[in-house]
Amino acid sequence: MIVVKGRQGPQSETVGSDVIMLGSNDYLGLAGDDDVIRGGIHAMQTHGTGLAMNQPFATTPLHERLRAKVAAFYGTEAALLFGSCTAANIAVLTTLSAEADAAIFSDMNNHASIIDGCRLARARTYVYRTRDPEDLQCRIEHALPGGRTTIISDGVFSVEGNIAPGEDLARIAARNGANLVLDESHAAGVIGRSGRGTAEACGLDAKSDVAAFTGTFAKAFGAGGGGYIAGPGNLLDEVKRVARFYIFNTGMHVAAVGAALVGIERAQFDEERRAALRFNVQHLRSVLTDAGFRLLGGDTPIVPVLIGDEEKAQALSGLAATRGVMAPAMTFPIVPRGSARLRLQPSAKHTAQTLERACEILAEEARKLEIVVQP
Ligand SMILES: Cc1ncc(COP(=O)(O)O)c(C=O)c1O
Repeated sequence: MIVVKGRQGPQSETVGSDVIMLGSNDYLGLAGDDDVIRGGIHAMQTHGTGLAMNQPFATTPLHERLRAKVAAFYGTEAALLFGSCTAANIAVLTTLSAEADAAIFSDMNNHASIIDGCRLARARTYVYRTRDPEDLQCRIEHALPGGRTTIISDGVFSVEGNIAPGEDLARIAARNGANLVLDESHAAGVIGRSGRGTAEACGLDAKSDVAAFTGTFAKAFGAGGGGYIAGPGNLLDEVKRVARFYIFNTGMHVAAVGAALVGIERAQFDEERRAALRFNVQHLRSVLTDAGFRLLGGDTPIVPVLIGDEEKAQALSGLAATRGVMAPAMTFPIVPRGSARLRLQPSAKHTAQTLERACEILAEEARKLEIVVQP
């Protein structure tokens, strides 16, 4: 684990030496942005460190403004805030499964917080093959769910770096009377023409095709923490009544709210930033491919570099770190055995030269480990 001394950025100062940061979810480079930081400071100057109360009892004008902004971002009726997306996922799943005979259909590559949400929801849970609409439909038919049915998927998968088949999921949800929930943690601010995530990228109607969006403020929005559910008012009223993670939890930290108010605005309207991110993703993918690496994923800022062998992946990540490149290895049990990889995440703030330099170092070390052979 590295110890980052200063602000998060494309090049971060760590205990030891500086690193080219390719392991952060700070996709738009907002985590170290002056205005976002000022938003957080101002919120604390106004409200102290928070209300020290659980969510149902009290709120602040900043929390209310952020709820409205999140709803406007997705085009939903309303939104609720949480301390994290983990809490939001658990809250939405426990709410949708509160009645008898509820069933959840969950993509096999969904984030751990969704898996934990399914466990806590105590609904019958069926795991379908990743991004496989036929398998999903088949499992729904065999399960014959009698009660409320939920289909839940990451919008962008955090380890594979690919996008959920939103159109197919929405069609299957409509055909089977199911609620579609999309976790937009790695999609919000990043994919879709104006950064509105999976629904926009897949041409879905936020109100009629999707029952709820969940997400975090700790990634592209740069706020360091916090989560949300966006959806119709009646569902969110139900969350308020039912979800233990809403009722018994302290809400989102006021500094994160202040930072998120600026971050979400930037993510929504700073087209240049998103264009820079897109350029960097394409550039990194192209230099890595030219260097002989095999890449997974697609048109998202998560660039998985397939290594296969667990030890070699760990070794490459370690060697890269000693040369100033943070390129985390993902090994079993995060990924199946034999598909170990580096997960690289460029940000809007990297320069083309920095990405090229990182790739050069990775390729040099990979050749020593006989991971890539071509020059
Ligand atoms: C898809 C997905 N959902 C949820 C989370 C959890 O977010 P938080 O850290 O806000 O709980 C993550 C975090 O990595 C994630 O990748």
